[in-house]
Amino acid sequence: MTGAGGGEDIELLRRMLARERAAREQAEMLLEDKSRDLYATLSSLQGVVRELDAARRQAEHHSAAKGLFLADLSHELRTPLNAVIGYAEMIAEDPRGDQVVEDAQRIVVAGRGLLSLINNVLDYSKAETGKLELSLQPVEVPAVIEESIAIALPMAREHRSRVLAEVGPGFGTVTSDPMRLRQVLLNLLSNSAKHTKDGVITVKATRLGPQDYRLEVIDSGRGMDRGQLERLFEPFQPVRREEGMRFASTGLGMSITRRIVLMLGGRIDVRSTVGQGTVVTVDLPVAGPPRMEAA
Ligand SMILES: Nc1ncnc2c1ncn2[C@@H]1O[C@H](COP(=O)(O)OP(=O)(O)OP(=O)(O)O)[C@@H](O)[C@H]1O
Ligand SMILES: [Mg+2]
Repeated sequence: MTGAGGGEDIELLRRMLARERAAREQAEMLLEDKSRDLYATLSSLQGVVRELDAARRQAEHHSAAKGLFLADLSHELRTPLNAVIGYAEMIAEDPRGDQVVEDAQRIVVAGRGLLSLINNVLDYSKAETGKLELSLQPVEVPAVIEESIAIALPMAREHRSRVLAEVGPGFGTVTSDPMRLRQVLLNLLSNSAKHTKDGVITVKATRLGPQDYRLEVIDSGRGMDRGQLERLFEPFQPVRREEGMRFASTGLGMSITRRIVLMLGGRIDVRSTVGQGTVVTVDLPVAGPPRMEAA
């Protein structure tokens, strides 16, 4: 009896042990699952923290750059404004003096510099807030090229550079905003003119097919290294006076240019080699930017 009873007890004990082990194993598995979940949540949280941190750093960088830009800008505004006031005062004090014409010319130069600076800053802030409006119409690209070259030519001549236009056959009419297109070409041409001495600047226009055309501004100037190329489209580059230039550089030209090209439905690409020159390629749609569907 005892033996049989003892056997049952052992059997019962064995089963209880087995059940307990199973329960423990299940609990361990559950724990393992939960800690895996917890680990996954933790790492995705770490990812979010990292992203937030990067966003914060970028915002700080941007706002620091804006602060610097504003400081530079007010300096750049004050310098020509002081020149305008100073020379105007000299004329007022001695209206018949022999320096009157030169003083008036200095006022014109300083005034023009101020105007281009103000225009750039306004355009940049409009483009930043999406308020730059386009006036789309049929455009003769060769005519826009000619106009832009005519404006940039004096700058190129200051550095004894030539400016050529090459328009491919059968270019035809495109849909665009002529003023903005001219602004793009002028920005690119003025950059080439600033940085090319005794060289050649070529504006090329070619049809890429029925839907697209390509504008290129190619110069044999001093070119840019990788670092300069990487920062090229960044706004708020330090304002500085280029050697031999009469006008201030706002460092906004390329950021405005890129925004306009995007608004016109195109893309811009820059290749450059130090000491050899720069090629800026702008591809645009013949039919203009795709229409925004009404919401
Ligand atoms: N064709 C080029 N050759 C060599 N360097 C260039 C050329 N185009 C641009 N860069 C460099 O890139 C910088 C930024 O150009 P960007 O047009 O944005 O500003 P900027 O010409 O200095 O000023 P802004 O156009 O506002 O008057 C220039 O200051 C210059 O250092
Ligand atoms: Mg420029």
